[in-house]
Amino acid sequence: MKPLKIGNLTAEIPIIQGGMGVGISLSNLASAVANEGAIGVISAAEIGFLESDFNKKPMAANRRALIKEIKKAKEKSKGIIGLNIMVAMSDYKELVMAAVDNGIDLIISGAGLPLNPAPKEVLKNSKTKFVPIVSSARAAKLIFKYWQRHFNKIPDAVVVEGPMAGGHLGFKNEEIFDDNFKLEKIVPDILKIVKTYERASGKLIPVIPAGGIYTGSDIAKYIKMGASGVQMATRFAATYECDASNAFKQAFVDCKKEDIIIIQSPVGMPGRAIKNRFLENVEKGLKQPYKCVWNCLKPCNGKPLYCIASALYNAQKGFLKNGYAFCGANAWKIDRIMSVKELIKILVDEYKNAA
Ligand SMILES: Cc1cc2nc3c(=O)[nH]c(=O)nc-3n(C[C@H](O)[C@H](O)[C@H](O)COP(=O)(O)O)c2cc1C
Repeated sequence: MKPLKIGNLTAEIPIIQGGMGVGISLSNLASAVANEGAIGVISAAEIGFLESDFNKKPMAANRRALIKEIKKAKEKSKGIIGLNIMVAMSDYKELVMAAVDNGIDLIISGAGLPLNPAPKEVLKNSKTKFVPIVSSARAAKLIFKYWQRHFNKIPDAVVVEGPMAGGHLGFKNEEIFDDNFKLEKIVPDILKIVKTYERASGKLIPVIPAGGIYTGSDIAKYIKMGASGVQMATRFAATYECDASNAFKQAFVDCKKEDIIIIQSPVGMPGRAIKNRFLENVEKGLKQPYKCVWNCLKPCNGKPLYCIASALYNAQKGFLKNGYAFCGANAWKIDRIMSVKELIKILVDEYKNAA
C-alpha cells in the first residue's frame, strides 16, 4: 500500500478512520488506529457528555472534553490524530480553535459546507491540515474557489462521501439509491477538479473516498481510480477499541440487510441507521418527550420529534430503547467484533491480493 501523504503528514496505511459521533470514536479508537499506521479520528459531536457539568455548561464542557481527548490520544499514540467536527455544530469555531491550539494534526469537516473553517491566519499558517467532506463536484468546486479567493489557500485534502456512508448524508432522498450519485460516479468528477488545483498550486491534494468501503479490494478499486486513500467508519465501530458500549457494537453484528434504513434526521438531512423500536415510533410520528438542553446543532431549530444528540448518546451508552445507532450501508456484513490490529491486517492482505 502506498502511504497517504497530506502535506508533511505521512500515514503508512492510507486509511482514515471516519469520525463517529456521539462518542463512538474518541481517544481510545483514534489512538489504536493511529498506532497501526492509519489516521485515527476523534469525533467532536457532543463530546462534552464526558464531563459532569455538560447539562449546565455544554459549550465549556465540549471544549474541555475535546482538549482532554486530544491529549489522551496523543499520549497513547505517536501516530496521526484528526478531529471530525460538523459545520452544523453551534460551537464549531470554538472547537476548531481549541483543537488547533492543542496540536491536532488534521480537522475533517462536513455536515454543511466548511467555507470558513478557521480564521485566515490559522488556515494559512497553522500546522493543522484542513480537510472538507463533500458529496458532489459542485460542493468541491465551491469550497476550492471560496478558499482560494478568500484565504489564498486550498484544502489540504478532500474526503468524498458517497450515499452508502453512515450517519448524516449529503444527498437528497431521491439521490441516495440513484446510480448517478454513486461514489464510483462522483469520485472521478472530483478528481478532475482537484487535478486543476494541483497543477495550479504545485501541491498534492489527496482525494479520499468514503461510504460503503468495506474490503481491501474496495480500497484497491478507489486507489486505482486515482484516490490517495479511503475513509472508513462502519468497520471501526465493530472493534474492541471503539469507544461505544458493547451493546452498540453488538447492534452492528446482529443487524441484517433489511434493518439498515434511511431516516429523516431532526437536523433536516437524511441519515442511515439500524432500525429499532425507537425509530419505528418516530416513523409513526410518536413524539419522544424532551427538552433541548445542549442547543448543539445550528439547524435543529424547528420542532423535531426527538433530540438527536440524546438519541445518539443513549445508543453510545447501550440504551438502544431510547436511541439508535447510525451505520453505513454495509454494516450487515459485520459478523464479529475484532481488534483494530486484526481489521487493518485483513484490509492490507485483501488489498495486496486485489492489487
Ligand atoms: C456511527 C456513525 C457515526 C458517524 N458520525 C459522524 C459524525 O459525527 N460526523 C461526520 O462527519 N460523519 C460521521 N459519520 C460518517 C463517517 O465518518 C464516514 O465518513 C462514513 O460512515 C463512511 O462510510 P462507512 O461507514 O460505510 O465506512 C458517522 C458514521 C457512523 C457509522
